[in-house]
Amino acid sequence: MANRGNFSGRIGFILAAAGSAVGLGNIWRFPYLAGTNGGAGFLLIYLVCIFTLCFPVMVGEIAIGRKVGSDAYGSYQKLGGGKWGYLGLFGILAGLFILSFYNVVAGWAFGYFLEISFGDLLDQQDFGAFFGNYVNDIGPLFLFSLAFMLITAYIVSQGIAKGIEAANKIMMPALYLILIGLIVYSLTLPNAMAGVKFYLIPDVGEITSRTIFYALCQAFFSLSLGMGALITYGSYVTKDQNIVSSAAVISIADTSVAFLAGLMVFPLVFSLGAEPGQGPKLIFVILTQAFQNMGPIVGRIVGGSFFLLICFAALTSTISLLEVPAAYLVDQKKFPRKAVVWSLAVGIFVLGLPSLFSQGIVPALNKLPVHNSPDFLSFVSDMCDISLTVGGCLMCFFIRYRWKMNNLNEELTLGNPSFMGSFIQKYINFTISWVCPIVLSILSVLVIIDKFFGL
Ligand code: PHE
Repeated sequence: MANRGNFSGRIGFILAAAGSAVGLGNIWRFPYLAGTNGGAGFLLIYLVCIFTLCFPVMVGEIAIGRKVGSDAYGSYQKLGGGKWGYLGLFGILAGLFILSFYNVVAGWAFGYFLEISFGDLLDQQDFGAFFGNYVNDIGPLFLFSLAFMLITAYIVSQGIAKGIEAANKIMMPALYLILIGLIVYSLTLPNAMAGVKFYLIPDVGEITSRTIFYALCQAFFSLSLGMGALITYGSYVTKDQNIVSSAAVISIADTSVAFLAGLMVFPLVFSLGAEPGQGPKLIFVILTQAFQNMGPIVGRIVGGSFFLLICFAALTSTISLLEVPAAYLVDQKKFPRKAVVWSLAVGIFVLGLPSLFSQGIVPALNKLPVHNSPDFLSFVSDMCDISLTVGGCLMCFFIRYRWKMNNLNEELTLGNPSFMGSFIQKYINFTISWVCPIVLSILSVLVIIDKFFGL
């Protein structure tokens, strides 16, 4: 096989995979889902899902990718034969749709960065109303999301180590720093502790089946699981690396950013006397209000840099989303990388246009007759959620019944000689053989029923 490129080393891989994981999912979606689903109860279930279901799936995906050294389709096809390649294709397809709506939201964040830094956004009176108008101001948003897609394509076209890694090495640490600064600020505001309580002290009675579904889907989404992103990134990992410990670091990095985002948002929400369950507009409304309160100059600087970092976080995720279908077309169809990347970018941008137009400007896209997904963007996002949990579940079946556990163990021993016989080996084998297939099949069915019909 032609030289596909590799990550330069352990740190490069971890940063790139963590960059894929950390994104709008952590900073935009996690806080608003926690806000609408009971706060601390959601956080608790989320953490359980990460630990028991997501971490083993992540280890499995990276191992499959590294074993074969190919894209998601090629990896399943080579290890499984028969129709298993379709499982990879299913993930690739899910990735296309995720990127299509994700890029729209990234465009919103990019616009907020520009409007706060250089415009008069922070002079507004009502940030909720502003957001409602803003997402329907299609002209600029069209350009912002197009720009976002083109930047993503440029980085991916540069290849693995040069493009993807280099971008991540700068953006990830900067994101952490500003997040922590904002947490310190928000914790010093009056009534911040009410927000901390809402976020950290669970009321078990408040946990419903829907809390569990949303937490599960969010955990898969946030860790970029179930659609082949980590199979693809795993295919660029060298055999001397310890997959289990890398997966642990990636999971912890991602979970800590989501956790910190909540710790930043809820004290702000409560100190501003706002409503935690506002849905997708939560951070756009709450954060801008907080930045306004910091005064015109500080607010502009802090607010501008925060939205810029959200854009960086989103960018490291869109890079991985574009890399999945690109790797497929390069590996399987032998198309040249640059041509593949630019054509995909344009195609996916067009696929995202209905999501862009779904926030009110085209009424038919705004009120879909589907339970729980009022607009097209939410509908696509819900469908992708389903495909991620189903994809993760099928991967466990694949390992257990087709590839077989001893082959997984053998792959995981490379770069980690003490793996065999360790507690972590037993844990991963048990969760992939039993816990994940059973729990994920049941929950996937329930999630499908809930999303379509409402439980
Ligand atoms: N994990 C990313 C986020 O949290 C989104 C993503 C999902 C990226 C699936 C790649 C694959 O924002």
